[in-house]
Amino acid sequence: MKTLLTGGAGYIGSHTAVAMIEAGHDVVIVDNYYNSSPEAVRRVEQITGREIPLYEADAADKEVMREILKKEMPDCIIHFAGLKAVGESVAKPVEYYRNNIDTTLTLLELMKELRLTNFVFSSSATVYGDDNIPPFTETMPKGACTNPYGWTKWMQEQILRDAQTASAADEGTPELSVVLLRYFNPVGAHESGLIGEDPQGIPNNLMPYISQVAVGRRDHLTVFGDDYDTPDGTCRRDYIHVMDLAEGHVKAAEYAAGNKGTEVFNLGTGEPYSVLEMVEAFGKACGHPVKYEIGPRRAGDVQDSWANADKAKEILGWEAKRGLDEICRDAWNWQSKNPNGFNA
Ligand code: NAD
Ligand code: WQD
Repeated sequence: MKTLLTGGAGYIGSHTAVAMIEAGHDVVIVDNYYNSSPEAVRRVEQITGREIPLYEADAADKEVMREILKKEMPDCIIHFAGLKAVGESVAKPVEYYRNNIDTTLTLLELMKELRLTNFVFSSSATVYGDDNIPPFTETMPKGACTNPYGWTKWMQEQILRDAQTASAADEGTPELSVVLLRYFNPVGAHESGLIGEDPQGIPNNLMPYISQVAVGRRDHLTVFGDDYDTPDGTCRRDYIHVMDLAEGHVKAAEYAAGNKGTEVFNLGTGEPYSVLEMVEAFGKACGHPVKYEIGPRRAGDVQDSWANADKAKEILGWEAKRGLDEICRDAWNWQSKNPNGFNA
């Protein structure tokens, strides 16, 4: 199967490219390097020993994307391309709505035109909002999102569902297969240490922040609040190894190729860890304690978020295999070998 990965030079896309190739599929990547670099794709080629067709393009650019899709005619599109920084989305909502929603609309228009049918989408646990109580199941109603980034995912899910429904009703159009993947908290890196998460500037997310403290790039972590109603007072999340997540995409793309309709799957482990548990585990992996201070709560944080991951296991035959030790080991391996990310 040939899969086209928009945003394939990014963190999750590059790991998915490895998993796809290892599962025997072909990969084509489209990225505008807004938040990544072609070096990540070169590293994927190094890991897999395969040459990957790579296009520098904006996935919202219809003319350019038409030519790429006409040339490649992929069996499945996995749409990772998007802006993802929660805080930035509050400051720049229009840019977030424009980029995230436009890319999806462009791809849907071109799929109809070129009669392509299979689509896998990077959604997020953020669509459960703060009204639902974990573990989150796919049948729960989507909640009210706390930021524009979350709303872009919420809206893209709806757009994709509506397009699928219309395609099923229209006899002149081949029926779409849409798989919505709700990721929990992707962390870790490929075990080679050649690819990993490389945030620009000050990391927003916990794991890259911890890694940068551990490697000496930052002085200490600020833990955002220790007065939550949890065993140690810090928030709990479902941290999933990025290679487990990547393997979930292989199963999702294979599912999309063999089924019609819209399906939504949580990709998480089902097991929550607190911020302090992550700090402790990382300290063990890197061989020294990670310095931290307790600070105030961060606006918009939910106390608890974790998945019920049963549906992906039952229908896709997928479950996360890697635990917290492997997550920290691989994150540290990547960070210590590439202290300044891909620019080292
Ligand atoms: P990332 O920023 O590393 O990767 C996204 C990639 O898309 C980047 O390489 C970027 O350059 C590219 N891109 C952005 N806009 C583009 C455009 N218009 N055209 C072409 N390329 C474009 O982020 P990631 O962590 O790999 O996330 C991938 C997807 O998963 C995103 O849609 C993100 O919202 C979603 N997601 C991420 C997380 C997370 O915590 N990392 C959680 C849930 C969902
Ligand atoms: C995890 C925990 C923080 C940084 C975000 C998005 C979500 C999804 C994944 C894309 C929280 C605490 C963090 C720090 C800290 N992204 N923390 N100090 O907030 O669960 O999810 O990324 O879809 O939409 O909202 O992840 O890694 O930012 O935070 O104490 O310096 O770590 O308060 O409890 P989050 P995170």
